[in-house]
Amino acid sequence: MSTDPPASPPLEILADIEQAIWEDLACAVQEPRHLWRTPCLLTSHQQAPEGRVVVLRHADTALRTLAFYTDARSPKVGQIRGQPHGMLVFWNPVRSWQLRVRCALSVATTGSAVEQAWEQLRNSRTAGDYLGERAPGEKLACLPLTSESVPLPTASPAPHHLAIISAQVQSLDWLELARTGHRRAAFSSEGAAWLQC
Ligand SMILES: Cc1cc2nc3c(=O)[nH]c(=O)nc-3n(C[C@H](O)[C@H](O)[C@H](O)COP(=O)(O)O)c2cc1C
Repeated sequence: MSTDPPASPPLEILADIEQAIWEDLACAVQEPRHLWRTPCLLTSHQQAPEGRVVVLRHADTALRTLAFYTDARSPKVGQIRGQPHGMLVFWNPVRSWQLRVRCALSVATTGSAVEQAWEQLRNSRTAGDYLGERAPGEKLACLPLTSESVPLPTASPAPHHLAIISAQVQSLDWLELARTGHRRAAFSSEGAAWLQC
């Protein structure tokens, strides 16, 4: 006999599915262990795909925006500015839901939103991610440390390199895998539609 908890009945109405998607995205921001916490962000650069895992930091249901933090010096910042469109891919194996989000991307490296985010982060475990002396991906010389190469401690606080990647959601492609039949639906400003049911 299965000891799994009883599965909740499948959502039948497109508006309920869209609402559940946004509720899950909002939960993922709050819950570090949420299965939608770490989507893959895909972009393009010089006609080639680029992809990486990022942590979902904000989800605004009313504005249909999502946001992520990064190091302002990381390659993806220039790539997004050059080609400001992307796709986010989420997978939740408990719900058996894949979500693909087509979005317009922008990056802020200065301004009040960045400084507010930094105020919240600066004393956290992850603050060091945005304080490194070297740009992410920069090649290391891997030379042995000598007394001359060890950086001297500085009295002034190191500048941070926090940047915010904002994603304006244009459309959602939702897929639910099920033994009884997969279901798929699309949501955008033009409305909602079943693609498979
Ligand atoms: C679980 C996980 C979470 C990550 N979260 C972030 C993140 O929130 N922001 C970020 O810039 N990189 C994050 N990374 C690292 C990126 O996947 C990537 O390696 C790095 O940002 C360099 O990407 P780029 O070369 O495309 O700029 C994360 C990696 C993992 C494995």
